[in-house]
Amino acid sequence: MRTDSFKGKDYMTLLDWTKEEVETFLDVAFDLKRRFAMRELHDHLLRAQTLFMIFYNQSLRTRNSFEAGMTQLGGHAHFLDPGKIYTPALEGKEVAYSTERVSDVARVLSRMGDAIAIRCYGDPVDWEYGGAHALMQEFAKWSDVPIINMECDKYHPCQALADVMTVKEKFGTFKDIKFVMSWAYSPSVHKPRAVPQSAIIAASLLGCDTVLAHPPEMELDPEVIKACEANAEMNDASFEVTNDFEGAFKGAHVVYPKAWAATSLYPPPVGTNSPKKTQRIFDKYKDWKMTADIMDTADSEAIYMHCLPADRAYEVSNEVMDRTDVKKGWKSVIYDQAENRMHAQKAVMSLLMGGK
Ligand code: CP
Repeated sequence: MRTDSFKGKDYMTLLDWTKEEVETFLDVAFDLKRRFAMRELHDHLLRAQTLFMIFYNQSLRTRNSFEAGMTQLGGHAHFLDPGKIYTPALEGKEVAYSTERVSDVARVLSRMGDAIAIRCYGDPVDWEYGGAHALMQEFAKWSDVPIINMECDKYHPCQALADVMTVKEKFGTFKDIKFVMSWAYSPSVHKPRAVPQSAIIAASLLGCDTVLAHPPEMELDPEVIKACEANAEMNDASFEVTNDFEGAFKGAHVVYPKAWAATSLYPPPVGTNSPKKTQRIFDKYKDWKMTADIMDTADSEAIYMHCLPADRAYEVSNEVMDRTDVKKGWKSVIYDQAENRMHAQKAVMSLLMGGK
């Protein structure tokens, strides 16, 4: 297990990390989860350190898991509302006295704290695909401390680490685990691709037999698909893309259906900037909903996962979401998955922060 490749590094996407390094994140996350369960103090790990968190979007889990996690590690997570600071903006997108160039914000915060975490996708960058990721890369270019991606338009590596932690916790292995990430219907078309893209990267990197199911109009980034194919080959596992919703889940161990935007939502050159057309496309697939009947076709011990918040009664039935306390048979693990956000992110912060 390598421990020398973490300090000072950014956490932008799991594509930047090797399988061995991701296994180290998980190993540390499980150790920290055990310590949390035992109420064993570990507040020396990041004592008196500060994480600055800039949220351009809403959040329940991400904000609170980072805040609680930093408290447990002995540091402080400082919440920054971009509307209440001078909104960090890229050169050329500045507005006098209401924004501040990212290069200045990054360098100022680097002088005061130990890491900067950012969430940005969708409206703040007019849904330009890759625009939010570029903003984070600009932060990374100028910051002297690690940048942590709390979800951009391409990746949500914090969610993905918690996702694979949950799979490991429930099955003890990734080998021969059929991990199905699928699109599911939502009345809202404004959903980034970050969660599905990061989930399939993580699952394939660690060796799951990974399946991606979606209607033809909801394809994901070809670069992500290429990376998943390479991961599968490296692990002697499989990676498959299908347009068959119900068929995808047959024998699945991990059932992970959620909505993401159709390609048509994004402005050119990726899409056509057409929310109304996207809504019409979405409405063709209202039957892409997880139900108990479909769960019955999965592995008998399958787990239902969702990053949350879920669109109850659209993406998934209440019956599936709420089946959390059963001893035998398939079950929903959404609250374990949400809790694991905190343990996984504590591992990321402990390994990255605290000096080079
Ligand atoms: N899954 C997730 O990132 O949740 P929040 O949007 O509540 O942070």
